[in-house]
Amino acid sequence: MIVETKGLTQRYGGTVALNQLNLSIPQGAVYGFIGPNGAGKTTTMRILTTLLLPSDGEAYVAGHSVARERAAVRRQVGFMPDFFGVYDNMKSAEYLDFFAASYAIAPAKRPKLIDDLLALVDLSHKKEAEVMGLSRGMKQRLSLARTMLHDPALLILDEPASGLDPRARVELRELLKELRSLGKTIMISSHILTELAEMCTHIGIIERGNLLASGDVATIMHSLQPHRIFEVHVLPAEGEELAAALVRAAALAKTQPQVLATRPLPDANPPQLQLDFGGDDRAAGALLAQLIAGGVGVTHFAGQVSDLEEIFMRVTAGSAYGGTS
Ligand SMILES: Nc1ncnc2c1ncn2[C@@H]1O[C@H](COP(=O)(O)OP(=O)(O)O)[C@@H](O)[C@H]1O
Ligand SMILES: [Mg+2]
Repeated sequence: MIVETKGLTQRYGGTVALNQLNLSIPQGAVYGFIGPNGAGKTTTMRILTTLLLPSDGEAYVAGHSVARERAAVRRQVGFMPDFFGVYDNMKSAEYLDFFAASYAIAPAKRPKLIDDLLALVDLSHKKEAEVMGLSRGMKQRLSLARTMLHDPALLILDEPASGLDPRARVELRELLKELRSLGKTIMISSHILTELAEMCTHIGIIERGNLLASGDVATIMHSLQPHRIFEVHVLPAEGEELAAALVRAAALAKTQPQVLATRPLPDANPPQLQLDFGGDDRAAGALLAQLIAGGVGVTHFAGQVSDLEEIFMRVTAGSAYGGTS
C-alpha cells in the first residue's frame, strides 16, 4: 500500500472534519476520492502531503509517517491543490524553473526536465507564454507538470476536473492514463462522481469525515450487490420447443445453490431466461459449464452490470448527499 491511514482524525475546534479514517491505496491505483463539499477530502490530502498535522491517528505514504518523516513523504508526493496561485509576468517555462529551484533540482538539469514535462502535458507550444494568459485547462496541466518535477511516486490531485470544460476534461483523463502508465499512483478528488467514474481503478466515498466505502471498483460493486442478475439465451435442441428448452435450462440451473431464482427475461421476444445469482465469477463459469454439459444450447450468458453511479446512489442512500441529486 502506498497510502495507509489508521484512525486518522482531524478536528478544527469543535468540528470533527475527519473521523477515524482507515484508508488504503495500493501502488499503481487511480484512486477516486469522492464526496460532497465539506466532506474532508482536502483535509485528508493536506495531511497526506504533510501540509497539515493530524489531530489523531496515523498516516503513511510509502511506509513513511506523515508526522515523523515529513521530508521522506514529501519526496514521494506531488500535490496539486484545488487553486492555481497568481503568477504575474511569468512564462510557463519560468514557472516550472521557479518550482524546480525550490525542489533543489540542479540548474543544469532543469532545461531538459522542463521541456520533457511540458511535452508530457502537451504544452510545449506554450513554453514562452504568460502563465496567467493560459486557459483553465492549460493552467491545470501546467500545475500537473509542476507536481511531477521531483518525480514523485504518488500524485495527489485535489478536484482537478472542477471548472474544466468537457474537452479539457477529456484531455485531463488522457493525461492521467499516461501518468498511470508511467507507474504513478494517483489520488484524485471530486465532489462529482461522474467526473471520475471511468478513470478510476479504486474509489473511496467520504461524507462528513466518514469513509462510507473504499476499495477496488469490482469489490465495492460486489459487496454492495448481494446477488447479480444473469441473462441466459437458450437455443432449443433439434425438434425441441423453445419453451421446453427454457424449462429444462431453468431446472438445471436451479440445481446450483447459488442460483437463487429463475424467471422469464422481461420483455424478451422470443422468451429467454433471467437468473438471480449469488455466486462469484468462478461460480458463474461453473454454472455455464453445467448448463452446456447438461445439453442446453447456450447462445448468450452474461451478468448485468450496474455502474458506479448506481453504487454511489446505494452507498449514500438515505444520507444527505444521496438525496440531493
Ligand atoms: N482551516 C480550517 N478551519 C476550520 N474548519 C475547517 C478548516 N478547513 C476545513 N474545515 C472544515 O472541515 C470540513 C472538511 O473540509 P474540507 O477538507 O475542505 O472538505 P472538502 O475538501 O471535502 O470540501 C468542513 O466542514 C470545513 O468547513
Ligand atoms: Mg476540498
